[in-house]
Amino acid sequence: MRNEMMFRPVVNTDILEFMRFGQKPLTGILKEIQDDARKRNVPVIPHETVAFLQFYLRSLQAKNILEVGTAIGFSASLMATTLPKAHVTTIERYDMMAKEANETFAKVGITERVTLLEGQAADLLPTLPKESFDFIFMDSAKAKYVEFLPYCLELLTANGVLMIDDVFQAGTILKPIEEIPHKNHSIHRNLNKLFQTVHEDPKLASCMLPLGDGVLLVQKV
Ligand SMILES: C[S@@+](CC[C@H](N)C(=O)[O-])C[C@H]1O[C@@H](n2cnc3c(N)ncnc32)[C@H](O)[C@@H]1O
Repeated sequence: MRNEMMFRPVVNTDILEFMRFGQKPLTGILKEIQDDARKRNVPVIPHETVAFLQFYLRSLQAKNILEVGTAIGFSASLMATTLPKAHVTTIERYDMMAKEANETFAKVGITERVTLLEGQAADLLPTLPKESFDFIFMDSAKAKYVEFLPYCLELLTANGVLMIDDVFQAGTILKPIEEIPHKNHSIHRNLNKLFQTVHEDPKLASCMLPLGDGVLLVQKV
């Protein structure tokens, strides 16, 4: 099966190739997990997002990280190994994925620094301690981002950053809804609502990045 996440270039394809294959590759166990995910079409973050995440997390020196959307535990492992003193809490609703993620964390040797919460993010987010995460990576159901936003903002520390993945839908979020296939209406509407909510809130700063299928960074100011 083709992994659509890898084929939604929002920059021209030469630049995409350069950002994806011309940046420092991963090594060791993380490279193995990345290659395996690619082979099996598991929708993990593309390499341009890997490079950004490593660079950005090192400069943030985040201590307590939350991820919404674990899949097989690739990005959670990347974050935990990039910041060896950080704790990563990650949420996954599919038991098969959660099982594989736990195996990944054991293989990488980070089990004590990762807490995997199994269940729906909508149920789990309200149970987490407020203002306790200095970095939140939201990489789950795109139609739900706008619903999860207020919870994530409550969970962020004062200078914390929320990074939201896959927000451009290959640029189709800019099109009128009449041009969007019916099955994608809810994603289209809710991603547009997410942008509007973030941009209209004077208490939030934000920045869009053309990584993968688009990233939105949000911070409380
Ligand atoms: C794109 S994958 C995450 C990839 C992962 N962040 C990585 O790059 O290694 C999205 C994951 O989010 C999970 N997910 C989607 N909606 C969710 C929800 N509402 N609650 C919990 N998990 C969810 C899916 O089951 C899927 O495994």
